[in-house]
Amino acid sequence: MAEKGKDTMEKLVSLCKRRGFIFQSSEIYGGINGFWDYGPYGVAMRRAVEQLWWKTMVEDRDDVVGLDSTVICHPKVWQASGHLDKFADLMVDCTQCKKRYRQDQMEDPSVCANCGSRELTEPREFNLMMKTYVGPVFDEEHVAYLRAETCQPIFVDYELVRNVSRLKLPFGIAQVGKAFRNEVTPRFFTFRSREFVQMEMEFFCRDDGAMEWFDYWRDQRLRFYTETLRIPVDRLKLHEHDKLAHYAKAAVDVEFAFPFGWGELEGIHHRGTWDTSRHEEFSGKDMRYFDQERNERFHPTVVETSCGLDRMCLALLCQAYSEDMAETRKEGQEQEVRVVLRLPPVVAPVQVAVLPLSKKLNDDARLLYERLRRAYRCEFDDGGSIGKRYRRQDEIGTPFCVTVDFETLEDKAVTVRDRDAMTQERVPLESLDRVLMDRVFA
Ligand code: GAP
Repeated sequence: MAEKGKDTMEKLVSLCKRRGFIFQSSEIYGGINGFWDYGPYGVAMRRAVEQLWWKTMVEDRDDVVGLDSTVICHPKVWQASGHLDKFADLMVDCTQCKKRYRQDQMEDPSVCANCGSRELTEPREFNLMMKTYVGPVFDEEHVAYLRAETCQPIFVDYELVRNVSRLKLPFGIAQVGKAFRNEVTPRFFTFRSREFVQMEMEFFCRDDGAMEWFDYWRDQRLRFYTETLRIPVDRLKLHEHDKLAHYAKAAVDVEFAFPFGWGELEGIHHRGTWDTSRHEEFSGKDMRYFDQERNERFHPTVVETSCGLDRMCLALLCQAYSEDMAETRKEGQEQEVRVVLRLPPVVAPVQVAVLPLSKKLNDDARLLYERLRRAYRCEFDDGGSIGKRYRRQDEIGTPFCVTVDFETLEDKAVTVRDRDAMTQERVPLESLDRVLMDRVFA
């Protein structure tokens, strides 16, 4: 990672901890590598992003329905999917400094990048599935796995879901949930974790129209990043895969310019008929679709959109992190560095903060807060100087602060402070809802 990128990541990780977005799991025990907890602001933001995805992919459409399956399913699912045989990385250890690498990520596979030693072990296969036991006996018969991707239960339940939803091809099934991978080298904060949230949609269609659907979903997903999440186009790129799984016809990744380099946010995959065919083979159940109009039975082709919620949030945080110079009341200084998270209002953990200028105004300010919180994620903050409160809200990315002062009692108006423009505008209480609505959901 270049020095500047490293610096930005360090600052972001520290802000996330300081303000309670994301911190190490089990920190008091020294943490556990590859596992992260989301604090109050982090969880609010992550839910907002998830809801936007769900609304776009499921609620706003007639041809996609939802599913929420278990994390543990029948172990045969993972035999059928190929995960038990093939879901492995090659890992290499340095015998001198004990550093472990994923072989495909080593710049020079013959030298340890940490200590320079050439004493490296032979590459060994390392299966990424997380293993557990179901029931009181811990033997091979009772082994089960935590799901490595959320899509497999979609394929397993596909016929049930299709039946109850009375859907005809083409249609999709979407799921959001935890996935687990025993990554050899978890790194770059939450980018590569061992427990993470996936948001996947499997779109079942006829093979003859599948490539058009592939193009359609690639474009839809790009629009989600640029229009819904407001990520600038020049921070995104499409990366087409040259090496494809034997059953796939196309695969493209949406990548984001992280401070540590381009990294994958989402994959759009043409999966052919592999998944339902494999589950038919392993379960013995007919997984074909029956087309009544044409009186034919066939395995539908699948186009998948698969993204990681944690990576999406990390991209948003990286995109939002900024520093500028702002006025200060600190002695001997006119300006100080202001850290601002320029998050789009739709994903900001707090969309509107209500700040009474004095505790004497708390009753009126609280009434306003109760009214606004029905429509927005709101926070009431009456602690410390107004300047400090603005700084705090800037750091957590609050786009609008509504300040109630003594004049409010007279002129029935409040001051709306804009995080990015740094403007302070007097807005009559009666038009406050409309003004905020226009700006938060612009
Ligand atoms: N069903 C296809 C599938 O799982 P993938 O490329 O392995 O494809 C899809 O994963 C997405 O899941 C990735 O684009 C990424 O956003 C997220 N993801 C994968 N592994 C991850 C990890 N270890 N930590 C965080 N997110 C991860």
